[in-house]
Parts: sequence; C-alpha cells; structure tokens
Amino acid sequence: MLEKIKKAVEYIRPFLPEQPEYVIVLGSGLGKLQDEVQDKVIIDYKNIPDFPQTTVEGHKGRLIFGKIEGKPVLMMAGRFHYYEGYSMEEVTFPMRVFKGLGIDKVILSNASGGVNPSYEVGDAVVIRDHINMMPEHPLRGKNIDELGPRFVDMSEAYDNVMRQFVIEFGAQNEIEVKEGVYMGLQGPTFETPSEYGLVRILGADCVGMSTVPEVIVAKHQGMRVFCISVITDLGGPEIAFPVSHEEVLNAANKAMPKIIVLVKGLIANGN
Ligand code: HPA
Repeated sequence: MLEKIKKAVEYIRPFLPEQPEYVIVLGSGLGKLQDEVQDKVIIDYKNIPDFPQTTVEGHKGRLIFGKIEGKPVLMMAGRFHYYEGYSMEEVTFPMRVFKGLGIDKVILSNASGGVNPSYEVGDAVVIRDHINMMPEHPLRGKNIDELGPRFVDMSEAYDNVMRQFVIEFGAQNEIEVKEGVYMGLQGPTFETPSEYGLVRILGADCVGMSTVPEVIVAKHQGMRVFCISVITDLGGPEIAFPVSHEEVLNAANKAMPKIIVLVKGLIANGN
C-alpha cells in the first residue's frame, strides 16, 4: 500500500508547479466547477500508477491542478464508488495519494436525495455529520500506522470552522444554505419510498452513494474535511416519484452557480 501511494505521488508531483492547498472532489453533475480553474494542468487517471478508472457517465477521470481565487488547488473529476465494484481500498486510494502529496484540506461535493421534509430540489446542504451504512469499512484490516491511527476520532468529521464559514458566507451573499446529516448507502439502486423513510427515522437529512468512505480515510490521515451536497431528488414513505440518474445530473447542474460561489468563497477566505 505504502509503495503504491508513493508511486502515484511520484508520478503526479512533477506535474504540480506549486503545492496544492485544497483537493476538491467533484460529485455527480458538478463537473462544471472545473471551468473555474485557471492555469490548468491535467493529469489523466489512466496514466497514474495504480489509480482506478471511472465507469459512470458524468464522472470524468482526471486530476486538474490550477488556481481558484489565486489559490493552488487539485481537483478530482471522476470519483470511485463502491457500487461500481471497486474495493474500499480502491475507492479511497485517491485520498491516500492527496495526503501523500501534502494536501491537508478536502472539499467534497455530491448529489444526494433529500429526506428532510424541509428540503427542496436544488438546495445546497453543508454536511454537518454522516451516518455510515456502507457494507464495508475502508479501514478494516491491519492498520498502516504510517498513515494514521487504528482508532479514528470522528467527533468532528466535518470541520466546524469550514462549515460555519460557508453558512455565514452564504447568508452574506443571499444564498440559502442548509445543514444536514448525510447517510452513505451502497447503491446503485435509489431507495424505495420505505427506505427513504428509514433513512429519515435513522437521523439523516439526505442520502447518497459516495463521500463517506473518502471522509473516513481523510480523517484517518488527519485531514480537514468540508462537504457540500446538492439535493437532486426528494424521497420519503409518502413520496413515490421516479428518480433517474439524468434527473440527478440536471438538478445538480442547476444548483452549480450557488455551489461555485460557496466553494470559491471558502477557498478565497483560506479556511
Ligand atoms: N439516493 C441515493 N443516492 C443519490 C440520490 C438518492 O436519492 N440522489 C442522488 N444520489
């Protein structure tokens, strides 16, 4: 594992003219954030040793180094989902590599289904906490002490300072920002109405098929994590609307301008 991380890091490093401050992981339908990056350097996954390859429409496989608000960032366009058949080690390998590159701040984005009755399609939700309901844990197995501790504190998985900043920044810019708990499920099916109901009963506000493994591995390595979710559909026991991947991508796309303002604000502020 350490050797694999080292090889990927050694491949990527010469492409980076500067040390990136943030890594930004793009979720479904949120690829347009790439257009905000200046002075781009593109690194295709297919050339990075041991990097998995993407399979889902709407997820391109490349890292993009560049500047946002003058700050050096690395963007991950195309993430790996457990439901695609990757192992948890593969799903989270990029996060290992980002830490290996010396990056300590992570901005994740995703599309999720809203189960909180106050949510609407297109809402921007700052993730306050998560509930891990994925069937496998990314840290299961022998701990690699060089990477992080055996037992990981998750009392503040989502960085308080980053969260508070974005909520206040949203208010100042008249962008409604909600806060919520994300439940990570395996997928690839969207939930049945009864399952959405269960997600709500269990204490989550929204549900998706990504993010949680990456957050766990980022926290294992002591990274600071921020996550913003776009509500792309609504679910609950009394709601039986069909959900499609296309609808998810469209809704995420529509919310893009808000997400861009919030992410740029966070980066410009340097939190
Ligand atoms: N469920 C799971 N994942 C999702 C959803 C959903 O409703 N919407 C977008 N990703």
